[in-house]
Amino acid sequence: MKAPGFGMTVTEHLLREQRQNPAATGAFTLLLNELVMAAKLISREINKAGLVDIYGYTGAENVYGEQVRKLDEYSHQTLVRRMVHTGQLCAIASEEDADLITIPSQYPVGEYMFLMDPLDGSSNIDVNTSVGTIFSIHRRSNGPGPVTLDEVLKKGTEQVAAGYVIYGSSTMLVYTTGQGVNGFTLHPSLGEFLLSHEDLRIPARGKIYSVNEGNYQYWDEPVRRYVDHLKTPDPASGRPYTSRYIGTLVSDFHRNLMKGGIFMYPADHKDSKKPHGKLRLLFEASPMAYVIEKAGGAASDGRRRILDIEPESLHDRVPLYIGSPEDVAEAERFLRGE
Ligand code: AHG
Ligand code: MN
Ligand code: MN
Repeated sequence: MKAPGFGMTVTEHLLREQRQNPAATGAFTLLLNELVMAAKLISREINKAGLVDIYGYTGAENVYGEQVRKLDEYSHQTLVRRMVHTGQLCAIASEEDADLITIPSQYPVGEYMFLMDPLDGSSNIDVNTSVGTIFSIHRRSNGPGPVTLDEVLKKGTEQVAAGYVIYGSSTMLVYTTGQGVNGFTLHPSLGEFLLSHEDLRIPARGKIYSVNEGNYQYWDEPVRRYVDHLKTPDPASGRPYTSRYIGTLVSDFHRNLMKGGIFMYPADHKDSKKPHGKLRLLFEASPMAYVIEKAGGAASDGRRRILDIEPESLHDRVPLYIGSPEDVAEAERFLRGE
């Protein structure tokens, strides 16, 4: 039998959560409602990606030196436009903007900060493979008054909500406000996100590993040993693991959340700089770490819990090991050389 909430709209679910929290002002509900609207707009645009001129690049480069695609730009602009006038935010930070975005003076200002990767996995757009949006919400600790960068550079434990939208074979919103992780599927003709996955929990151990193994030669020895271990047959321990890698964090994460397993983007020596991860702490690793912990999983940079890492700048990158708690613990043991 389906859980009692199955099929309720995301708005109804938000209101229900709001009623259960006597201190809630409704600010949060308003904020997530706008996010839902933006997700519907982005989903619609992605679904017609092959029909209109939104494939390809804008010609600009983002702060990471990556080519900006038209859909990166569309998703960023849509989210900013919808979120900026809610009256609930004092700042927005995006993977696609080098600086903090403040609220224009014509709009009321609130106490929340919204951080996002507007379009995750954008290199997959042109080949009709799933992409996503990642978001994170923090509550401001000082204020009122103009927001400073320091206020946004908070460790992940300070998040009050986080989640993602996956534009896959169906569009789904998965989020948590700290009490459990719920998934809502967009009904294509009703245009509503309906509760389809209540209280998601990740298995303690999985049989899937997800990593860009093309980087093998650029990894440190302990990372190679761990990946070799996952491929070494030992039926009693469920090995070899199955390899699955889409190249969209949201999609690789979502599959492993449902089935169990580990996603990793280790530090590598691809360029002359010291070894570093690719994924962005504030826009990718930290929100996903918040979701996975609320679903019973774990997230680490190989040594430290992701949620405990203090960002030094808006666009910090970290290595990431995320998924089933026993798999992440095992990865950490290998990285320690045990
Ligand atoms: P984005 O499209 O936001 O830049 O993110 C791409 C990220 C992430 O989604 C994915 O896990 C990873 O980059 C894939 O990187 P590789 O192509 O190096 O494997
Ligand atoms: Mn991304
Ligand atoms: Mn992106």
